[in-house]
Formats: sequence, C-alpha cells, structure tokens
Amino acid sequence: MLDELVTVLSRCKRCVVLTGAGMSAESGVPTFRGDEGLWRKFRPEELANVDAFMANPELVWEWYNWRRQLMAEVEPNPGHFAITAMEKWFEHFTMITQNVDGLHRAAGTKSILELHGNIARNKCLDCNRPFEIEGEIDSGQIPACPKCGGKIRPDVVWFGEMLDPETIQSAFSEAERADVFFSIGTSAVVHPAASLPVTAKRQGAVLVEINPERTPLSELADFRFSACSGELLPSLMDALRETSGGGD
Ligand code: APR
Repeated sequence: MLDELVTVLSRCKRCVVLTGAGMSAESGVPTFRGDEGLWRKFRPEELANVDAFMANPELVWEWYNWRRQLMAEVEPNPGHFAITAMEKWFEHFTMITQNVDGLHRAAGTKSILELHGNIARNKCLDCNRPFEIEGEIDSGQIPACPKCGGKIRPDVVWFGEMLDPETIQSAFSEAERADVFFSIGTSAVVHPAASLPVTAKRQGAVLVEINPERTPLSELADFRFSACSGELLPSLMDALRETSGGGD
C-alpha cells in the first residue's frame, strides 16, 4: 500500500497534514483519549474550560505547570522529522496541528497552523494580550495583566472556546485546495479540526489516515495505515526519496 501511495503522491502538489496527540505519543507526551489518555485520569470540565479557570485558577495552573514541565523535557520523534522532510518535498505544504507542545517547530517544520494554541505561551483572560514571564507561573500567585489587570492564563484553546478565526480560516482554505490530506494521530472527534479532512476529501483530495486505532474518519480514507506515525512517516519519506531519486 505504501508503494501505491507513493505513486499517488508523486502527482500531488499541495499537501496538508493535520496532527493530533498521537503524533507526540512516541515522544512521551500522553494523548487525551484511549486507555492511557489524560481524560481518563483527569476531568476536562475541571481543567480545560473558562468556568473551571474562574472557579479554581490555582488548580488549572497546577495542571498546566505539570504539563509544561512534561513537555519541556520531551523531544521530537522520527515522525516529526519526517514531516519536516515532507514540507521540503512538496511544492506547497501546510501543517495544521491540534497539539500545543511545539514539537513540530522544534523539529524544524516551518509552515505551522497551531489550532489549539501553544502551552508555552500565556495570555490575559480578559483582553487576550500575550504575557511573557521568566520561569513558571506561580499557581498561588497568578500574575495580572499589566494592561487591564485580568488574570493570566495559558494560551491554549479550552472546550467551548472559539479558535483564532484567522488560523482556522487558513486551515480550511488549505484543506479545500489540498491534493492530498494526511490525518495523523488524531481521534478525529473534536471539531472544527475534525471537519478539515472531511472538507478536503469533499473537495477532491486524497485522504490518508495514520493511526493504530480506527476513527470516524477511517471509512472515508483512501489510504489507511494502522501504524504509529513515528514509524510509518520515516518509511514513507524513504520511499518517496527512492522514487524521486533525490534527497531533500
Ligand atoms: N501514532 C499515531 N497515532 C497514535 C499513536 C501513534 N504512535 N498513538 C496513539 N495514536 C492515536 C490514538 O489511536 C488516538 O486516535 O492518536 C489519537 C489521539 O487522540 P486524542 O487523544 O483524542 O487526541 P486529539 O485527537 O489530538 O484530541 C483533539 O482534544 O482534548 C482535546 O484539545 C485537545 O487537541 C486536543 C483535542
């Protein structure tokens, strides 16, 4: 099946990749769903929405400090690096990620739309202004925005929140024009991200799914690899390089 995909890809100019938590699983970042997922052990309604933050900002910050610490210690895996190589291989390439861990950038990928923000950044709850600080946020003494006095929160998208309109608009516009769309390591249940592959497919893109588990998208996929992205993507890049007879 890999050979067949390589043949198809050699005719594709515009490639869009959507990634989810499974992409970083092999780097040691826990996913949200599944047996070992964070949402099995923690309650999203207490940790990842505005009401939870207003009710108990200390608890929410403790959770984000823990995740930040975890993410500060991990590194991109071979799948992230293979995507960086894909970016150079295609004439036009867009990386859309739901991940907040910054590992695609750390691996050298350039064109990235971070749909759900970035856990390393902070912003004001009230006026949205970015807020920079050395070291970690003290959950017992949460800083206030120097402009409006609002509480500082992590710059991630919580349940019930709108995505940045420009970012999601760019993502849909790229999905609509894609020749090939990869959905990698996402359970494809959280919208609007989960609508991107469906949109791409409707507009004529070849849809490729890489995920050891089936998802609501699996039925739609033209190519489905029941595999870990850290293994499959480097093999795919090797196969592409072999057929094109060149490096990246
Ligand atoms: N390679 C590829 N896929 C993998 C791997 C791997 N090594 N390991 C796990 N997976 C798959 C799982 O089978 C699962 O389908 O990754 C998927 C992870 O799904 P989720 O945990 O639901 O993550 P994601 O789809 O990114 O979640 C979307 O939900 O809570 C929110 O904001 C959070 O961005 C997140 C959103």
